[in-house]
Amino acid sequence: MTMKTSIAIYPGTFDPVTNGHLDLIERGEKMFDLVIVAVLKNAEKQPLFTVPERVEMLREVTSRWSGVEVDVFDGLLVDYARKRGAGVILRGIRAVSDYEYELQMALMNRKLEPRLETVFMLPGQPYSYLSSKLVREIAQLGGPLQGLVPTVVEERLRAKIA
Ligand code: PNS
Repeated sequence: MTMKTSIAIYPGTFDPVTNGHLDLIERGEKMFDLVIVAVLKNAEKQPLFTVPERVEMLREVTSRWSGVEVDVFDGLLVDYARKRGAGVILRGIRAVSDYEYELQMALMNRKLEPRLETVFMLPGQPYSYLSSKLVREIAQLGGPLQGLVPTVVEERLRAKIA
C-alpha cells in the first residue's frame, strides 16, 4: 500500500478573505492533509488590501487549523503547485455563473500540468451570493458586514475606508 500525502492549493486574490472562503477552507481541511491558501502576487487588478495585509488576515482567521498554511505565489499556478508538491487545486463554485471561468482555468491548468487535478467544492448556501468585490462595495458604502466576513476583517475594512 502506498502512503499518499494529499496537498491541496487553494489559490485566489482574497481581497479580503470572506466567510465564504473560510467555509471552503474548513471543508478542504477535512479532506486534505494540508491546504495551502495561496495569495496571488502581482495581479493586474488594483487591490484594496496589500498582499502582506491579506496574508496577515488569512493567517489570523485560519490559525485554528494546523493543516492550513498561508503563502504567496507568483507566476503560473501549476509551477507553484509543482514546487509545493501539491496534487490538487481547490476552487469553490457558488453559482452557474462561476462555472465558465472555472472550467476555462481548470482545463487550461490541466493542459499545462496533466497530473494536477482541480477539485471543486460548494460553499454553504448562506455564502453562495457572497464575494470579496461585494464586501468591498458594502464596506465602502457603509453597509453592515456581519456574517459576511470575520470580525477582524470587518475591523480592517472599517479602518481602511475611514
Ligand atoms: O480569486 P481569483 O481572482 O478568482 O483567483 C484567480 C487565480 C489566482 C486562481 C488565477 O488568476 C491564477 O491562478 N493566476 C495565476 C497565473 C496562472 O496560473 N494563470 C493561468 C491560469 S489557467
